[in-house]
Amino acid sequence: MDKIRFHGGRLKNTIRLDFSVNTNPLGPPFKIYNLIKENLELIKYYPEEESLSLKYLYGQKWNINFDNLIFGNGAAELIFLYLNAIKPKRIVIPMPSFSEYYIAAYSITDDIVLPLYKLKENEFILSLNDIYDNIIENTLVIIGNPNNPTGSLFKIDDLLRLLEYLKKKESYLLVDEAFMDFVIKEKNTSLVPWIKKFDNLFIVKSFTKVFSIPGIRLGVGIGPPKTIKNLENKRDPWSVNIFAQVIAKNLINMDKFILKTQKYIIQEQKFLYRLFRDNFNKRNLQIFKTETNFYLIKFPLSSNTILDFLLKKGIYARDASNFYGLSDGFIRFAIKTREENLELFNELKILLNNLHSF
Ligand SMILES: Cc1ncc(COP(=O)(O)O)c(C=O)c1O
Repeated sequence: MDKIRFHGGRLKNTIRLDFSVNTNPLGPPFKIYNLIKENLELIKYYPEEESLSLKYLYGQKWNINFDNLIFGNGAAELIFLYLNAIKPKRIVIPMPSFSEYYIAAYSITDDIVLPLYKLKENEFILSLNDIYDNIIENTLVIIGNPNNPTGSLFKIDDLLRLLEYLKKKESYLLVDEAFMDFVIKEKNTSLVPWIKKFDNLFIVKSFTKVFSIPGIRLGVGIGPPKTIKNLENKRDPWSVNIFAQVIAKNLINMDKFILKTQKYIIQEQKFLYRLFRDNFNKRNLQIFKTETNFYLIKFPLSSNTILDFLLKKGIYARDASNFYGLSDGFIRFAIKTREENLELFNELKILLNNLHSF
């Protein structure tokens, strides 16, 4: 797990097209810019402690209680906070997954188990038996749903069965739903509606991805009131800044924007999958099925060869060969606008057509 802290999204002035950042291709809703400009005067004040108004607003929206919610400086803050608060004996993290899970886990225990997603034809699937086999008392299981970087989604029945099993073993489940807003209603397997039933469940969501605002830092945790109180007591009450609070208040009615995003994403998922499969399948390039706004490709060449070629064209993507559980040749791409997606495809076509070794 060397060099596991490797993120996309750094500003690089030679880059025209950045496919490493997996935020909404429709960009931030325009009103966010105006909201910040109109509220500049607020910097004279402290933010509201514990974002209490947001708890009431979003509690109503999601049909849960205000005391089921905790707002944080990004979902990332809440992941670290939760792990530090419950201090599990063992942590199980299916791999490959978001590197911060492992980093947060490693800061509190050496007993970390990393079962692997397995490739089944064109998708990554996790066998829950590989999780069950590793549960001892006071184990925390961390999963991404949808998972980064595989783009895979769990079935709701599997999650509920896992929760029941963990409950019997006095163990916990942390589900990261940072990318769930990209999933259409018919496929959505969010556990938010189940929060009242399971006192061993904690969910994190992020405003970063769907609203394309990584710089604002805003995430929300959903859990049983006892857990939420414990987390609030263990952290700075002003960790959510005042602009993040203003934005969250005003984003409560963005259902149309989210729906538009989901329709766009599902259309591009299908388009890109067919495009890459139909054009490159014979060349041993494999594109994987995704349920969210990024996808993995396995190239029959080293990741570096592909990335260097793209970089010369001003295109950047996420080297996925350094995710535990993946290997050289894997690259993760964000779904961007149709025009940008086609530009990427055309550049890759040039590269692959010019290779004699194929
Ligand atoms: C799966 C996953 N969860 C959480 C985060 C972090 O979200 P936030 O910006 O809300 O801290 C990321 C960021 O890349 C992510 O990929």
